[in-house]
Amino acid sequence: MEIRIEKGQPEKYPCELLLLFSFEPPTPLEGAMERVDQEWKGFLSTLINQGDFKGELYQCRLIHTQGALSSKRALLVGLGKKEEFDLEKWRGAASKAGQFIRDSEIKQFACQINPIKDFAVEELTESFVTGLLLGTYQFNKLKTLEREKIKRIERVILLGENEEKIAQIEQGLKHGQIISDAVCMARDLANAPSNQVTPSVLADKAREIAKDQRLGVEVFDLNEAEAMGMGAFVAVAKGSQEPAKFIVLEYNQGKGMDTIALVGKGITFDSGGISIKPAEKMEQMKADMSGAAAVLGIMQAASKLQLPLHLVGIIPATENLPSGKAYKPGDVLKTLSGQTVEVISTDAEGRLILSDALTYSLRYKPKAIIDLATLTGAVVIALGDYVIGLFGNDDSLQKKIELASQKSGEKVWKLPLWDEYFDYIKSDVADFKNVGTRAAGAIIGAIFLSKFVEKTPWVHLDIAGPAFIEKERPYMPKGATGIGVRLLVQLLRDWK
Ligand code: BES
Ligand code: ZN
Ligand code: ZN
Repeated sequence: MEIRIEKGQPEKYPCELLLLFSFEPPTPLEGAMERVDQEWKGFLSTLINQGDFKGELYQCRLIHTQGALSSKRALLVGLGKKEEFDLEKWRGAASKAGQFIRDSEIKQFACQINPIKDFAVEELTESFVTGLLLGTYQFNKLKTLEREKIKRIERVILLGENEEKIAQIEQGLKHGQIISDAVCMARDLANAPSNQVTPSVLADKAREIAKDQRLGVEVFDLNEAEAMGMGAFVAVAKGSQEPAKFIVLEYNQGKGMDTIALVGKGITFDSGGISIKPAEKMEQMKADMSGAAAVLGIMQAASKLQLPLHLVGIIPATENLPSGKAYKPGDVLKTLSGQTVEVISTDAEGRLILSDALTYSLRYKPKAIIDLATLTGAVVIALGDYVIGLFGNDDSLQKKIELASQKSGEKVWKLPLWDEYFDYIKSDVADFKNVGTRAAGAIIGAIFLSKFVEKTPWVHLDIAGPAFIEKERPYMPKGATGIGVRLLVQLLRDWK
């Protein structure tokens, strides 16, 4: 989809479709709606007075202009009640409009974005572009039949009436595109099956981003990880024939900026290992690298946005499979930190590979460590699939995440990490075990990770719920969502 900015007025602009938004109720008419109504000799007012368009949230009403306007068609889209309007609804409205236009097989539309309530044109443009691009995302590159039936919007024109507005639209468009591209890249990686996105492919992707954005990149293979002492990562990787990779990406190295480490779980397929999972829905475990995909997306977006931070992206990537060489329940592993872990379940593999990655991140002396992981089924039981489970050892960092969550619309909910929970992972033979009880499963996963960050401010985001969804949301088609990218890019943009 090409998005262009042009100088012009909505009521005079020749195009296939003019997109117009309004609140519920739509009267009194405002902005572009009012101008179009005047040009159209009160047609919109009549339509609205007759009750044919109420402005309900996401309501779409397509009208043919019969030559009354320069545009062939107009699409009215409802924003819901004015008091309830926010950027999240706006992203949803942009998405619903885009889906409606695409599904109607209309290939081009124009739209003018005017200030709404207290929101400025730049932020409205960014959110509009984000909603539109994320809402019309489709993962269809593996379908070979009837490709000619795939529908897509080819061109969008954002109209600005003067140079000042155009400059604001340009900024919003640029940011919206950078962020949406990063989210779509993360979605593509997590939607792709595990025979196509292997640890080597994740490493290649990291190298590609590094080349495009001039980042530092290092990829360690299993022998190197073993030589470094990553006993937990190596144990998980041992059962698979697919070569494991430990990936490190670095942006703004050696410039004296604040260092933030981003750690992403990169299990390209989680069968559970010897503690094998039930077959039902196991195919979704191709997305057990959603944390890794998000880290790649964040690194790409942060560098394109030229954020003034030193970022280190760390991705332990491997499959988790059973085999004659696989690690087993009862095994005791020596982690990179020196601490030992008794394996109770080989299906609690995420915390094992992350333990070594978290310890590795400490060598950069980061101001903050943030990990993203599809870590536990328990977090989905606790919070459902709308919400990211938020854990950490530092109130101020958690508050920053909560603020970024409100702005980005990627919901987080804080769960506790009290000392009492440590009792659950005490082992008779090692320092800890990798599984506690079924009760408080998400918290126990987080408690385990906390043993590997020392005193560094750290946040753990358990994204097992929203990373892969079975029912679509306003601007998230079903499947991989790329969750975490927009949340953390917002955090990093606001970092102080
Ligand atoms: N990858 C899973 C967690 C998961 C479950 C992600 C559902 C997305 C959807 C993780 O490795 C796992 O298997 N966790 C176990 C931990 C248990 C053995 C303590 C779980 O949640 O059952
Ligand atoms: Zn598992
Ligand atoms: Zn897993």
